[in-house]
Amino acid sequence: MAAGWRTPYGRVGPVTGERVAVWRDGTARTADPGEPVVTAFDLGLGRGDGVFESVHVVGGGTPHLEPHLARLRRSAALLDIAHPGDDAVRAVVAAVTDGWPGEVEAACRLLLTRGLGDGTAPTLLAQLAAVPAETLRQRTEGIAVVPLSLGVPAGFRATAPWLLGGAKTLSYAVNMAAVRHAHAVGADDVVFTSLEGRVLEGPTSTVVWAAGGRLHTPPVDTGILAGTTQARLFQRARDDGWPTAVSPGTVADLQSADAVWLLSGIRGAATVTRLDGQPRGDAGLSQRVRRLLQR
Ligand SMILES: Cc1ncc(COP(=O)(O)O)c(C=O)c1O
Repeated sequence: MAAGWRTPYGRVGPVTGERVAVWRDGTARTADPGEPVVTAFDLGLGRGDGVFESVHVVGGGTPHLEPHLARLRRSAALLDIAHPGDDAVRAVVAAVTDGWPGEVEAACRLLLTRGLGDGTAPTLLAQLAAVPAETLRQRTEGIAVVPLSLGVPAGFRATAPWLLGGAKTLSYAVNMAAVRHAHAVGADDVVFTSLEGRVLEGPTSTVVWAAGGRLHTPPVDTGILAGTTQARLFQRARDDGWPTAVSPGTVADLQSADAVWLLSGIRGAATVTRLDGQPRGDAGLSQRVRRLLQR
């Protein structure tokens, strides 16, 4: 593989260059990342008709794979996409991570699409790339966030299965456009809000805030994705004596909170240091959150 190969996630070197594995004819095979592995007619490409997961690779392994497998199954079911089974997914993960250097954090993206449709086999593949330096910087230094409205009432998606609330679909063009909008106004990331101004989620993250001695996160019946990192944090926080709650919240609640984080598997807990142009602190709580996530 050529040194310094370019991926959407940045430029990477030869040892930790990006990798691909594909599920084909009942077997996981690695493929040259520069070679096409789907046809131009794949519905994942043409319509974003598929689902995905981003799995953190640490120490050369995937310690948090299981909740991602469960969510990929759930997402596939919501889109009525045939799922090839957890063992197939495990096999592409094992193939793509095999021999990856333990000291290099990576993101393993699992893509499952409807393939060519009409009852043909779905497309399953795994991509692997080093975690970009900018993601690591945001994890350490925190992020400036702007609220942006999604324009849907908080309770609507629960009544509208065609909007695919709760599914991690490949149709992330809106999410990426929101992040570009944030960059255009000098911020790093976004908190989506409902029509009524309720906090929903980030384009690639779950919102968590600390207030009144508790950790809070918005309810999933708003159509947001159930975050695996948030679930892990809340379980460990409760075990550690830090109460948790599922709470509706507004941007004003985030402004007055002791701390706010955007949580995701790859970036971890990114402390919100500026919200809608206002600087904000974390009351020293980020260290505890990071410790709980790392345990
Ligand atoms: C929309 C959205 N919400 C939340 C998350 C966080 O999920 P997880 O913690 O499982 O990475 C993601 C992750 O990519 C996401 O895309």
